Amino acid sequence: MGVLRILVTGGAGYIGTHTLVEVLAAGHEAHVIDNLGNSRPAALARVRQLTNRGFGFTRADLRDQEAVAALVAGFRPEAVIHFAGLKAVGESVADPLGYFDNNVAGTLSLLRALRESACRRFVFSSSATVYGDPDYLPIDEDHPRRVANPYGRTKLQVEEILGDLARADPSWSIALLRYFNPVGAHPSGRIGEDPVGIPNNLMPFITQVATGRRAALNVFGTDYDTPDGTGVRDYIHVTDLARAHLAAVDWTVVDWTVVDGGDGAGRGCAAFNLGTGRGTSVLEMARAFEEVSGREIPLVRAPRRRGDVASCYADPGKALRELGWRAELGLAEMCASSWHWQSGNPEGYPEDEL
Ligand code: NAD
Ligand code: UFG
Repeated sequence: MGVLRILVTGGAGYIGTHTLVEVLAAGHEAHVIDNLGNSRPAALARVRQLTNRGFGFTRADLRDQEAVAALVAGFRPEAVIHFAGLKAVGESVADPLGYFDNNVAGTLSLLRALRESACRRFVFSSSATVYGDPDYLPIDEDHPRRVANPYGRTKLQVEEILGDLARADPSWSIALLRYFNPVGAHPSGRIGEDPVGIPNNLMPFITQVATGRRAALNVFGTDYDTPDGTGVRDYIHVTDLARAHLAAVDWTVVDWTVVDGGDGAGRGCAAFNLGTGRGTSVLEMARAFEEVSGREIPLVRAPRRRGDVASCYADPGKALRELGWRAELGLAEMCASSWHWQSGNPEGYPEDEL
C-alpha cells in the first residue's frame, strides 16, 4: 500500500468527514470539494484539529463544470471518493428534478472532468436502497435492484452510468459501495451527524430525545413480521464505514508502482455491500441506547411509515473476500459514540466556528 492524492467530494458531510479522518490518518493527501449545502465549515475545521493534518478545500458545486475541471487539473487526483449528493427520500419525491440534477448531473460533471485527467479510480456512495423491498435475506450483491423513489433512482442511475463507463474504458476501477444504515460518530465526539430540522433517521432522533430536544421516539410500525414487530435494519458504525472506503481505494489500485500514470487495465466496476450482517429492531436499538447513555427514551407507537420495509440486512461476505474489510464495532459503540457527539454538541456544529 502506498500514498495517493484523493479527491473527496462531499467531504464536509457526515460520512465524508469521518472518511477524511481515516484517509488523512493513513497518510494520503486529500482535497475536498463541497458546496456546504448540507454541512458547515466547522466540520472541516474539526477534521483538521483531530488529524493535525492539512488538506485542500474548494467550496463549489459539482455541477460547476469549470470549477471541477480546474480543481482536477490542479490537484491531479489519483483516486476519487464521491460522497456529494442529496439524500432525503421525502424531499426527492417532492423535487425529483432537483435530485436528478444534483446527484446525476453532478456526477456526470465530475466524470467529464476526470476523463480529461489520468485518474481512473473511483469509489461511489451507493445505498442498500437500490435493493428495494428484499426478495430474500441477507441481501447479497446479486440481489435484483429496484427502487421506490427518486433518491433511490439517482443511485441506481449513477451505478449504471459507472458500469457503462467501465465497459467502455477498461482502465477504470470503480467500487460501488452500497451502505446499509450508517450511525455513530468519531470516538472523540468532535464530529458526527448533524441533520437539519427534524431528523428522518432513527439514531439522530433517539439522541435528540435523549437531550430533551424531542419528547419521545415515534416507533413507525409495531406490526411488522419481525421478532418484536418493529422494523429491522443493519446499522453500521460510521468509523467502520470510513475504513471500508480506504479498503475500496486500495482495491482500485492494480499496481502501486504506477499510481500516477494509471493502471492500464483496471478492475472494472464492482458493487460491495457495507453492513455488519446483523439485523437490529427499533426497540433493540432504543434499549441499547438507554443502557449506554443512562437516559430514558420514551416510546410512542406510531403507524408504519410509507415506503418502509420490514427487514433489511446485508450479506457483507464479498467485502471481506475482495476488500479484506469487515465491520468491527457493535451496537454499544454505535450508541456510545452517537451520544458522546450529541451530548457535547446538542445543537450540532456551531454556525460561526472556523
Ligand atoms: P451529507 O449530506 O452529510 O453529506 C453530503 C455532502 O455533499 C454535504 O456536505 C453536501 O453539502 C455535499 N453536496 C451535496 N450535493 C453537492 C453538490 N452538488 N456539489 C458539492 N457538494 C455537494 O450526507 P452523508 O450521510 O454523509 O452521505 C454521503 C453520501 O452517502 C451521499 O451520497 C448519500 O446519498 C450516501 N448514503 C448515505 C446514507 C446515510 O444513511 N447517511 C446511506 C446510504 C448512502
Ligand atoms: N424509525 C422509527 N422512528 C423514527 C425513525 C425511524 O421507528 O423516528 C424506524 C424506521 O421505521 C425503520 C428504522 O427505524 O424501521 C430505520 O429508519 P431510518 O430512517 O433510520 O433508516 P431507513 O432504513 O428507513 O433509511 C435508510 C436511509 C435512506 C435509504 C434507506 C434504504 O436513511 O436514505 O436506508 O437504504 F434510502
